[in-house]
Amino acid sequence: MKAEFLIFVLCLLLSQGLAEDRHPLVASLGALRVLHYNNLGPQNNGTSAVLAYDHSNYADATAKCTAIGEKLFPWSLSQNNSQTHIELDYELDYLVFTKELGADDYLWLSTEQKNRKSCSAFSIFHRKTIQKSCTDKLPVLCTSTPPATTDLDEAARETTKLTVTSNDYTFTGYRDARSFRFLGIPFASPPIDDLRFAPPQPYTGQKNLNATRMGDSCIQSRSSLSTVPIGGMSENCLYLNVFTPFLPPNFNKATALLPVAVYFYGGAFTKGTAAMIDYDGGNFASRSDVVVITLNYRLGALGFLSTGNLTTGSYGIQDQIMALEWIQKHISALGGDPSHVTIFGQSSGGQSVVALLSSTAAKGLFSGALVQSANFDLPWFPRGIYSRYITPEVAKAVGCDGDISEANLVDCLRSVPASMYLDNSTAFRNATKAFSSSIASHFYNTTELISAAEPFMPMVDDTGSGVVDDQFNNLLTNNNLPINVPTMFTTVRDEASLYTDILGLGSTQAPLGTLLKAIFGDALATKIISSGAYNVDDSDHDAVLKAASDALTHSQWMCPLGYLLDNSNSNSAFPSLYELQIADGHAQTLQMPAICSPNSRYNASCHTSDILLAWGTLNTKTEDVQPYYDDRDILHSQLVHDVFGAFFRERNPNPDLEFLKVRGPAYASTLSIFEGEFSSNSLLGRAEKALVIEQYTPERNMTLLGMLPSSTNNFEDENICVALRDYGFTFQRAQLSD
Ligand SMILES: *[C@@H]1O[C@H](CO)[C@@H](O)[C@H](O)[C@H]1NC(C)=O
Ligand SMILES: *[C@@H]1O[C@H](CO)[C@@H](O)[C@H](O)[C@H]1NC(C)=O
Ligand SMILES: *[C@@H]1O[C@H](CO)[C@@H](O)[C@H](O)[C@H]1NC(C)=O
Ligand SMILES: *[C@@H]1O[C@H](CO)[C@@H](O)[C@H](O)[C@H]1NC(C)=O
Ligand SMILES: *[C@@H]1O[C@H](CO)[C@@H](O)[C@H](O)[C@H]1NC(C)=O
Ligand SMILES: *[C@@H]1O[C@H](CO)[C@@H](O)[C@H](O)[C@H]1NC(C)=O
Ligand SMILES: *[C@@H]1O[C@H](CO)[C@@H](O)[C@H](O)[C@H]1NC(C)=O
Ligand SMILES: *[C@@H]1O[C@H](CO)[C@@H](O)[C@H](O)[C@H]1NC(C)=O
Ligand SMILES: *[C@@H]1O[C@H](CO)[C@@H](O)[C@H](O)[C@H]1NC(C)=O
Repeated sequence: MKAEFLIFVLCLLLSQGLAEDRHPLVASLGALRVLHYNNLGPQNNGTSAVLAYDHSNYADATAKCTAIGEKLFPWSLSQNNSQTHIELDYELDYLVFTKELGADDYLWLSTEQKNRKSCSAFSIFHRKTIQKSCTDKLPVLCTSTPPATTDLDEAARETTKLTVTSNDYTFTGYRDARSFRFLGIPFASPPIDDLRFAPPQPYTGQKNLNATRMGDSCIQSRSSLSTVPIGGMSENCLYLNVFTPFLPPNFNKATALLPVAVYFYGGAFTKGTAAMIDYDGGNFASRSDVVVITLNYRLGALGFLSTGNLTTGSYGIQDQIMALEWIQKHISALGGDPSHVTIFGQSSGGQSVVALLSSTAAKGLFSGALVQSANFDLPWFPRGIYSRYITPEVAKAVGCDGDISEANLVDCLRSVPASMYLDNSTAFRNATKAFSSSIASHFYNTTELISAAEPFMPMVDDTGSGVVDDQFNNLLTNNNLPINVPTMFTTVRDEASLYTDILGLGSTQAPLGTLLKAIFGDALATKIISSGAYNVDDSDHDAVLKAASDALTHSQWMCPLGYLLDNSNSNSAFPSLYELQIADGHAQTLQMPAICSPNSRYNASCHTSDILLAWGTLNTKTEDVQPYYDDRDILHSQLVHDVFGAFFRERNPNPDLEFLKVRGPAYASTLSIFEGEFSSNSLLGRAEKALVIEQYTPERNMTLLGMLPSSTNNFEDENICVALRDYGFTFQRAQLSD
């Protein structure tokens, strides 16, 4: 009775002193960690718990669990071999491995008490409960009751909310089964009115922030590649989301903060949002022990349009830089190490990573880079592309044309509704078609089909802003890349298979030569054909399509990437450098062409087919996607995820074997690959020797991250690459001409 009363009083004490609102302040609870055993499986049933590190007596420990809406973790003697106990054991082993707990430590948890005089604590060393004085001060293990967030259940549970302070800000976020979540944090002032077509300005709004819901996505038209609505969208969209397994209350130099990974979504610089369930960071947080941040950046004309002299362009990239600056200020309060930030992104998100590597203004904001499936063939735009070709057409489409001064033009462009800049109206489509055609002939010297792929692009700096110093190839060949950090490039095997349908090539009966001419123009198509790269029977339509998309995959991704890496002073540009290809993708949506999903003709690993595997989010996404194809698909997702996680933690895609070992069966498949020991009944078959992902050199093979992984020769010397190189990549041939 007495003990219960004491607990009640303590709860009251703990929940006052706290925030003006009713959510507990992490500062009053001490460091907290979400534990979640995560095999990325679709059941999502891994054991979860919350560990409060700060030592307290039994009564305070109970009160702490209550304060976060939980109870002491029940340890049942009769079920000491249950799956729950086994999984929890691995989580505790891991914390001993990271030295967050001592091997001899005890934890308070809830047991069937024999009497009320003494309390039982859990001995990590003995793996059983032992009588302790109730006044002993120990860390405490609490239950974790909220479910894992999925697209079927994204609600924030009221009882799991909690508040963190950072500088003079407070962020009220919440917890799910996999991580703490702080969602929809504004990192810049709304880029509206005079801030449209302008660099982002620091956030100046209220400092007491409700971070329990994603912010609006940047306004965009619907994607033809997904049926899932992306929720609220507007011009006021500069928000970020933090997923963290760890919250330190009063971090100081001694606090071991976690590696941080910051993601930029893809979508050709015209689509995408951090709100997609595909980019839920809970798996990286729980399985790979990193803090994940996803953020919105401006898109399309609103993200990149520039005029003669009065605008900078590249607003979307500047948004990313401002988010990275926010991270430097605040991420330690959310458990992340500001000196260990990796940026990563897929497609135009990968191009964004390349833009940031090329930006003096981003120096010091990150120390690792992972580029997924970036198009390396297309150069950034010079300002003239906007002022001569794009902006006049866009101005006409939104009703700002006429013979007006640049200042009046900018005023007008800022005054029309944001929705006029979306590419789904006839007027805007007409404009895009007109300027893409001009860019094809006056800059790229290629077909409209290639030039229309990314109608809005970052711009090369001409004002000393330090945002995109120069073209990537110039920076590499002149040894001027401003940021030199460990870097990993990944692609998927059949990048362009996604586009053969979109481009209307999927149904064509045309011979290969005709198709190549439509894609590349006569001159390059002739070179490709005479190179002998593709000798296909024109009556085999599958073979024709496959060859055409292979040529496109090589021209936009593989060959220019290999060329850039080989023609750089790569040792000084990249302190370490990896190149991987993912050869067993999983289609991101059901709207992708049939060739991107398992079929009897050709299983293509299409552009974007690495995303769900790397994030492990086939355990959270159910709408508009095929579930895991089979058990092998789950293990493959584990592999890709673990390779990414290792790069985030260690700047090396080869996971630390000790890390894998200590974390239990959920990591056994990845461990067996990197140890080279496959059990005979494994789904993987047998591997002769351990896999080591070696650093990239022009001579060495590159890693095919299939299931099993293997290696292949670099693409550089294949006929198709030789033909493209002889002709000149688009970034080499491009020049502004009248
Ligand atoms: C599990 O509990 C049984 C009694 O219920 C006991 O005999 C056994 O030693 C316990 N195992 C462990 C690992 O504590
Ligand atoms: C999760 O589900 C799998 C498959 O149904 C089962 O084998 C495993 O024991 C479950 N884990 C827990 C902790 O209940
Ligand atoms: C915070 O946001 C959530 C979700 O939108 C909402 O339910 C709640 O009322 C908000 N709380 C405050 C204090 O504004
Ligand atoms: C264009 O997209 C916006 C935002 O998705 C939508 O509100 C609008 O109705 C669309 N317009 C057309 C013509 O489809
Ligand atoms: C930009 O400024 C320069 C010099 O100030 C001027 O000569 C040029 O005409 C301006 N360009 C435009 C498009 O207004
Ligand atoms: C778009 O272009 C078509 C064909 O050139 C033309 O008929 C139509 O009037 C244009 N629409 C707008 C809104 O510009
Ligand atoms: C465009 O490419 C073709 C084929 O290589 C070449 O003949 C032509 O001179 C190029 N045009 C320009 C403006 O560079
Ligand atoms: C594609 O993968 C599925 C299994 O995921 C397999 O059944 C099928 O045979 C594969 N198709 C080809 C052409 O290899
Ligand atoms: C490179 O890959 C080829 C083809 O897979 C293989 O035959 C060769 O042994 C590999 N070379 C090295 C050095 O791994």
